[in-house]
Amino acid sequence: MPLLQVHGLSRRFGGVVALDGLELEVRPGTVTGLIGPNGAGKSTAFQCISGVIPPDAGQVLFDGKDITGLRPDRITGAGLVRSFQIARGIPRLTVLENLLLYGPAQPGEGVAAAILRPAAMRAREEALRERAKAVAARLNLTAVLDNQAAALSGGQKKLMEIGRALMAEPRLLLLDEPVAGVNPSLAAEIATHIGTLRDEGLTVLIVEHHMDFVASLCDPVIVMAEGRRLVEGSFADVAADARVQEAYMGGRVHA
Ligand SMILES: Nc1ncnc2c1ncn2[C@@H]1O[C@H](COP(=O)(O)OP(=O)(O)O)[C@@H](O)[C@H]1O
Ligand SMILES: [Mg+2]
Repeated sequence: MPLLQVHGLSRRFGGVVALDGLELEVRPGTVTGLIGPNGAGKSTAFQCISGVIPPDAGQVLFDGKDITGLRPDRITGAGLVRSFQIARGIPRLTVLENLLLYGPAQPGEGVAAAILRPAAMRAREEALRERAKAVAARLNLTAVLDNQAAALSGGQKKLMEIGRALMAEPRLLLLDEPVAGVNPSLAAEIATHIGTLRDEGLTVLIVEHHMDFVASLCDPVIVMAEGRRLVEGSFADVAADARVQEAYMGGRVHA
């Protein structure tokens, strides 16, 4: 069974049709690519899937369960986690502190629990710290754990952003342009990290414009145009498809 199923997803912004009955599936254990010309609806699809905005129509099933219109924190809690297009994080905090901010939420956490159950709180903090260190190690960030996020290179900021998403213990990770603005060798390094995470059992859906990155990492690749799925297949197959070439050449300008 697919881990993610999107059926008939539609969304307008005023007179603009951003999603027009989108159909897509993500199989477990894949790094699935989502590409398409500017304005195709990729970011809107991510926002509707992750609960940031509600769709006007359609359904999102995660692991067979209907999550359409759930609050983003509920969707994250269920294991579908989105990392953002712009590497954020809190610049003055260290990498470790940035990671710790994104541990999975625990019931009963807060001041009352801290007063009533200090030992349990300490144990949980310690477990979170261990998790943050393990996440950092997987992303080659161990050496900079105690550095301020502001001092990281552009590529390290992107990796920290992926790390923050991993802290939430995702089963499906949505990445919107993880290598935008990153030099080719760092993009290749990020691709390697994502491939390793996939090999360890994570499923990933990626929007990315950097075609070498998509070619090296993503299978299958879904091409969107005008709010719909245009074609799906291996990178080589979709790149050779005349409809895809036309969508990229024409874009929306002529629609
Ligand atoms: N918040 C918004 N308000 C108005 N129009 C929007 C908004 N978000 C997206 N759109 C429009 O919806 C269409 C799809 O946008 P988007 O999902 O960002 O495409 P992509 O990520 O593929 O470039 C575009 O025409 C865009 O201008
Ligand atoms: Mg976009």
